[in-house]
Amino acid sequence: MAMIAKQCPEIPVHVVDLNQPRIDAWNSDQLPIYEPGLDAVVREARGRNLTFSTQVDRAIDESDMIFISVNTPTKTFGIGAGRAANLEFIEKCARQIARNAKGHKIVVEKSTLPVRTAEAVKRILGSEGYGATFDVLSNPEFLAEGTAISDLLDPDRVLIGGESNEAIETLCDVYARWIPRERILTTNLWSSELSKLTANAFLAQRVSSINAISALCEATGADVDEVSRAIGTDSRIGPKFLKASVGFGGSCFQKDILNLVYLCEHFGLRDVAAYWEQVVSMNDYQKRRFSERIVKTMFNTVSDKKIGILGFAFKKDTNDTRESAAIYVCRDLLRERARLAIYDPRVGEQQIRADLAAACTELNGQLTDHERELIQTNVTVVNDSYEAADGAHAVAVMTEWDEFRELDYAKIYQSMHRPAFVFDGRNLLDHEALSELGFEINAIGKCPERRSRN
Ligand code: UGA
Repeated sequence: MAMIAKQCPEIPVHVVDLNQPRIDAWNSDQLPIYEPGLDAVVREARGRNLTFSTQVDRAIDESDMIFISVNTPTKTFGIGAGRAANLEFIEKCARQIARNAKGHKIVVEKSTLPVRTAEAVKRILGSEGYGATFDVLSNPEFLAEGTAISDLLDPDRVLIGGESNEAIETLCDVYARWIPRERILTTNLWSSELSKLTANAFLAQRVSSINAISALCEATGADVDEVSRAIGTDSRIGPKFLKASVGFGGSCFQKDILNLVYLCEHFGLRDVAAYWEQVVSMNDYQKRRFSERIVKTMFNTVSDKKIGILGFAFKKDTNDTRESAAIYVCRDLLRERARLAIYDPRVGEQQIRADLAAACTELNGQLTDHERELIQTNVTVVNDSYEAADGAHAVAVMTEWDEFRELDYAKIYQSMHRPAFVFDGRNLLDHEALSELGFEINAIGKCPERRSRN
């Protein structure tokens, strides 16, 4: 919305939310999320044609077009728990719009939703009976965190699905102010909703595919980065999204695939559901494999050993930790009674502790006393990488932050126990140089005895 406001100064954009502290943060100098370049965009438009407030009813009344951008987390209860999307917030929004709208409104689904949700939204909008009329459009978002600003300024495509050509054209006109028309695709509602889930499923599938191969590389002596480079030069495959890692994270991939799986099951397509579910299973395997490898390499015990954890966010250039592989690897190491010193340039202590507590929480929603104590006594959150590594038996790179590449590894080596293990979950570091310093390197898709030739 900030980008629309920036690019279209004559269109007033009201961002509204029920959460007052969050709105206060959007109105302050400390935005509630870290995203490179976002501050400048907000600063340019805020107070001109971009406002943030909690006056939801008023904004609905004043607007011609309303974007629903609430979260749609995976259900944790009832039918479809663990797979289906929780549409409670979407429904509440639709009802609030219906209660406050007058005349004609275009309602745009920006949240990622299961296919055919637009139909439910339409019915709810129509059923409150206050006399307003509505068109519903689907306009899924394809930006990635960390690169959001350039993704929004110069997207590969914008997708708009709907039934009314007039409504579609109105939204096209907004984007067309800075995006070439040929990159604005229009489809029917269901294709648009399904394309969003499918895009994320395909992207995640690429990561799971290369991660599956990384296990084979470790077993055979092939090097996964060399394999990626070799296959990526085939123009049909392409080089992007082929970086093997400790596992994909983020708020979207797993949730959207599980959504797709649930949808397939709903329509009786069991084989299709099983096919896509495997992408998530492979990701769980990759995270588990990494923590198991740490334990195994460190003489089958990490109990009471200090391990420095470099990075906690699910990728670089964001402070988002949702579904970050680091959470699960740290949880597994804690259960092995390791002592963890965690550092992330953008993620704070409170978030890290909350994520670990949530990951340790059992299905019945309870954190055991033992795990609460482990999180309290065995986790320290530190202020830099040197502190994380000081006196440690190992350091593990969990997020590919640029700064981890530029550390003084000679100094780190001096401060660590021997053997000084490095577990590179992102294949970020210069392994050759580090082993010359004396480190024992374990990296994704690399066999420790057979080093790559580049
Ligand atoms: C993803 C999609 O890329 C966006 O197009 C989509 O709009 C967004 O989800 C969404 O649905 O909102 P995002 O989750 O922000 O974006 O980040 P990605 O860059 O896709 O990374 C996801 C995860 O995959 C990260 O943990 C990343 O480290 C991992 N990854 C990515 C790899 O392990 N290897 C790769 O080659 C690429």
